[in-house]
Amino acid sequence: MGTTGQASALSYRYEIPDVHEIDVYESHHGYEGLKKALEMDPKDIIEAVKESGLRGRGGAGFPTGLKWSFVAQDTGKPIYIVCNADEGEPGTFKDRPLMELDPHQLIEGMIVAGIALNAIAGYIYLRGEYAHSGRRLAKAIRQAYDKGYLGADVMGSGKRYDLTLHRAAGAYICGEETALLDSLEGRRGQPRLRPPFPATAGLWGCPSTVNNVESIAAVPFILRHGVDWWRQWGTEKSPGTKLVCISGEVKNPGNYEVALGTPISELVEMAGGMLDGRELKFFCPGGSSTPLLPADAADTPYTFEDIQEAGSLLGTGALMVYSDQTSVVSVVRRFTEFYEHESCGKCTPCREGGYWLSQIYQRIDTGSGRMEDLDLLEDLCDNIFGRAFCALADGMVSPIVASLKYFRDEYVEHIRQGRSPYGVEPRRDIATVTFTNAGGYEPAPPAAPQEEFDTEPTSEPAGQA
Ligand SMILES: Cc1cc2nc3c(=O)[nH]c(=O)nc-3n(C[C@H](O)[C@H](O)[C@H](O)COP(=O)(O)O)c2cc1C
Ligand code: SF4
Repeated sequence: MGTTGQASALSYRYEIPDVHEIDVYESHHGYEGLKKALEMDPKDIIEAVKESGLRGRGGAGFPTGLKWSFVAQDTGKPIYIVCNADEGEPGTFKDRPLMELDPHQLIEGMIVAGIALNAIAGYIYLRGEYAHSGRRLAKAIRQAYDKGYLGADVMGSGKRYDLTLHRAAGAYICGEETALLDSLEGRRGQPRLRPPFPATAGLWGCPSTVNNVESIAAVPFILRHGVDWWRQWGTEKSPGTKLVCISGEVKNPGNYEVALGTPISELVEMAGGMLDGRELKFFCPGGSSTPLLPADAADTPYTFEDIQEAGSLLGTGALMVYSDQTSVVSVVRRFTEFYEHESCGKCTPCREGGYWLSQIYQRIDTGSGRMEDLDLLEDLCDNIFGRAFCALADGMVSPIVASLKYFRDEYVEHIRQGRSPYGVEPRRDIATVTFTNAGGYEPAPPAAPQEEFDTEPTSEPAGQA
């Protein structure tokens, strides 16, 4: 296990004034990861990402380097890089500051991914509501073309790589990678049947990869500083740092960059602790589609493997915290209504099941619940989980099943009293702009300095992690 607590890697430039402007970005080691990538054999870039152990930050935690190695080369078809910037999972707001404050970091990552996979073009599929991110990215892309980082001859390498920003219309399902591809192609955003997977038949039937903003943005850092630097944080199976969005009943909700492996209770303390007079009751470790866990699981280290062992998922890194004054029934009802609304309707278990689940929650929450509704909920969830076309349906039932497992007594009391035994509504004012990291302008070097660090300008203030 590496160091735990706050870290400063992907977010280290956030507080540098005007770092969204290319000149400022360049003066803080911007595009150095790309320079390094252009000196490497594309296969070695993929190998470095594999060795770093970087796991996808979009929800499933699939190893990024392995995913890239699956992209079919030499098929005669063009290869595309697609960045998933749809960020629709409730409680998730980590990609937005990255794109607003440091957009060149993502653009650099997209170009590096393009070089690694011999791609001809990349697309950033941006959540429709993220207007400011859109403005910042559009300007940054223009600047990158003007400076020769994009276009017909990337940094004089003779390689062509184009980048397009696609503003989406705003549908949660379009974050699912194959629905995203359909939407990008101009069709209704609904998931595709797999196989074939995007690595062989993705965008316009061509080999592609779809990766989350944070996954892509991490790659230039890894190339510039080396695999050991990345592995100074986290565990063997979950190395590196993570941008965590902490929301709910804590004093300082917001974004925190942390070392993977930091205990969840420490993350809650980092966010100022629980609101006065409240105690932790339950939390969703990785967004509303991950099974919620009770307070006694709060010492779980924040890693993919430990959270899985505890019965949930790290998901998108959205830690949603709830207190002893909050009704678990009301919270899960709101989640369920969200998923019912966002179901794309392609398959019956999700389309019809979501509607039924919402109806049952509505009657329990408003005083018309029946004791047999609890078995009915479980039975419905059992018939939906693993039987729908995509993971939206699994995400819809996961918090329901977990809440019945840990808080069945509360459901019974809620039905018996005809209302929640708790008076407080869940907190809804989630801060999306605050950001905190370990501080400092430059991530700390690994114990044995690597070659790359020898070339760093000495004027750069040293930070700490
Ligand atoms: C309903 C649904 C919504 C999703 N929304 C997002 C999203 O907004 N952003 C994202 O990166 N991944 C999202 N995903 C996961 C993507 O399908 C895909 O796994 C991810 O973009 C892969 O990137 P990664 O390998 O870097 O994690 C969603 C998945 C599902 C089932
Ligand atoms: S599970 Fe839901 S969102 Fe996914 S394809 Fe089926 S209906 Fe659409």
